[in-house]
Amino acid sequence: MRHPLPGATFLVTGGGSGIGRLLSLRAADEGAHVVIWDLSASAGESVRDEIRARGGHADSYAIDVTDREAVKTAAEVVGPVDILVNNAGVVTGKRLLDATEEEIERTFDVNVMALYWTTRAFLGGMIERRHGAVMTVSSAAGLVGVAKQTDYSASKFAAFGFAESLRAELAKDATGVDSLVACPFYIDTGMFAGVRTKVPRLLPILDQDYAAGRILTAIVEGRQQLVMPRMVGVIPAARLLPVKLFDRVMNLFGVNDTMDAFTGRGRDLPDTTGPAVR
Ligand SMILES: NC(=O)c1ccc[n+]([C@@H]2O[C@H](COP(=O)([O-])OP(=O)(O)OC[C@H]3O[C@@H](n4cnc5c(N)ncnc54)[C@H](O)[C@@H]3O)[C@@H](O)[C@H]2O)c1
Repeated sequence: MRHPLPGATFLVTGGGSGIGRLLSLRAADEGAHVVIWDLSASAGESVRDEIRARGGHADSYAIDVTDREAVKTAAEVVGPVDILVNNAGVVTGKRLLDATEEEIERTFDVNVMALYWTTRAFLGGMIERRHGAVMTVSSAAGLVGVAKQTDYSASKFAAFGFAESLRAELAKDATGVDSLVACPFYIDTGMFAGVRTKVPRLLPILDQDYAAGRILTAIVEGRQQLVMPRMVGVIPAARLLPVKLFDRVMNLFGVNDTMDAFTGRGRDLPDTTGPAVR
């Protein structure tokens, strides 16, 4: 099913920076009415203003997507949405014993539980209107576990399972609504600052403009699963190998060394009243 952008209401969680920001700008350029939901009021508003300055339509709301009640209230204010992009995400980037309990919980609250709150807020309307799309941004880490990502990778496996189960459910009920999922390798947005790739030809750190462009095209074309770069698509087949061999192949490609020099950007904290967190 195609999901044309002109005239569509396109809501992006985490639309204030990185991939969410680029998706917002591009969707607005294509004629969508963009709604940005971000923890950072200032980041969301600055993208909204950028879109308006280019002659596009955009609104921005400071929302913590982990806050169930806030999500319900904001969804009522926004009204019908044609395309929902579950993009907001956080990463800890620490060994299991180095992460705090709060960090682990936050990863699951943002990367997993919020998917339920935002999608439930808009899916009923999409089903009633018999059209719409929910794009969930998972990760290559949603296909393979990675050292220093016990929380992040597990949360992205959950996001993948969420999107796949939803796809099956929506198709089984012939709803006319799509559940799409994206599994990108690392992207140069700063969220994963410091990560390295051992085999840049096969597993390049993706350019954020390229990644956002591919995700937007996947939405418009109703592509159910986007995995990038292509090499990441080999992971499910590699699982046919005995586990010892699978691990050796992942190590050969340096997958478990990618996080060695990770610095990231630190935690995203609510910023609904003051200036940007970063
Ligand atoms: N950057 C990468 O290497 C990479 C790779 C694969 C997948 N992803 C996924 O892509 C998505 C976007 O990543 P990015 O690199 O653009 O990250 P980013 O850090 O640049 O942007 C994330 C945005 O989400 C917002 N956010 C965080 N918690 C929130 C909350 N509770 N409520 C509302 N907004 C919240 C932040 O304020 C920020 O604007 C994430 O889901 C991430 O896990 C990123």
